[in-house]
Amino acid sequence: MTNPTITERGPEDAKTSGPAAEQARREEELIQRVLDSFAQTPDARLQELMNSLVRHLHSFIRDVRLTEGEWDAAIQFLTAVGQITDDRRQEFVLLSDVLGASMQVIGVNNPADGEATESTVFGPFFVEDAPEIRKGEDISGGAAGQPSWVEGTVRNTRGEPIPDARIEVWEADEDGFYDVQYDDQRVAGRAFLRSDADGAYAFWGLTPTPYPIPHDGPVGQLLEATKRSPVRASHLHFMVTAPGCRRLITHIFVEGDPQLDVGDSVFGVKDSLIRRFEEQQSGTPTPDGRDLGDRTWTRTRFDIILADADA
Ligand code: BEZ
Ligand code: FE
Repeated sequence: MTNPTITERGPEDAKTSGPAAEQARREEELIQRVLDSFAQTPDARLQELMNSLVRHLHSFIRDVRLTEGEWDAAIQFLTAVGQITDDRRQEFVLLSDVLGASMQVIGVNNPADGEATESTVFGPFFVEDAPEIRKGEDISGGAAGQPSWVEGTVRNTRGEPIPDARIEVWEADEDGFYDVQYDDQRVAGRAFLRSDADGAYAFWGLTPTPYPIPHDGPVGQLLEATKRSPVRASHLHFMVTAPGCRRLITHIFVEGDPQLDVGDSVFGVKDSLIRRFEEQQSGTPTPDGRDLGDRTWTRTRFDIILADADA
């Protein structure tokens, strides 16, 4: 790949001669030298990524006329993000989420395909090896919250049912915590099930409630400094896989949740993913005859359409 020459503008008042022009020339000459340093990269894609990163990074520094103190603070911030990251906590992913970068990567890699269900952010709380349930069983595992009957079908973009799709579901309890955020090894609010011969599925979960992303670390400090809320709109996570189909990672959101108007801290909301969770009074017969005593419950429908793997 031939190396691009830089075209960024220098300081705003740059003229063709004088101190400002000399300053711009020096800044641009540095960028060109950095670009040239990657000229022998054997992997063409890596070279493309590094060239673009260098151009955008230098453009940012020049655009805001970054001070040395600010650059130092940025490095301290990224150091703190690394230091708090471990097997259970991924602060870099959280940073990517609150900057909207996670959603942008998802959008770029999951192009629209007809009526295919839209994707959204994965989040850090998915766990491999969740228990399997059969159609109609309960994922809550004792997690606190209002019962919610969730049902739907899995189909492809031609409307054909997809039997035996693997449907992973996970959600926070009514206190806003996932099972993995407790120290007692509980498994609750998560399971997987398979669509039946007609592509249908159903399970009992919990009516989703809003909760904050972890905000006791550097990402939380960034949100605080910028007066942003850490709260996510109420949601229930899905990951759906089937042979020949593009893997779908998504959520459904709750119609009427006030947080939808305030904004979701990781920009995950898409209108097509908002569902009505219909409130049912206590005593209303349940779809599967389950006796909920005097508890209220909700029900919702989420028909899933998977894109073809090569779409
Ligand atoms: C979540 O929905 O579980 C989540 C997503 C992004 C950041 C933190 C949590
Ligand atoms: Fe979540």
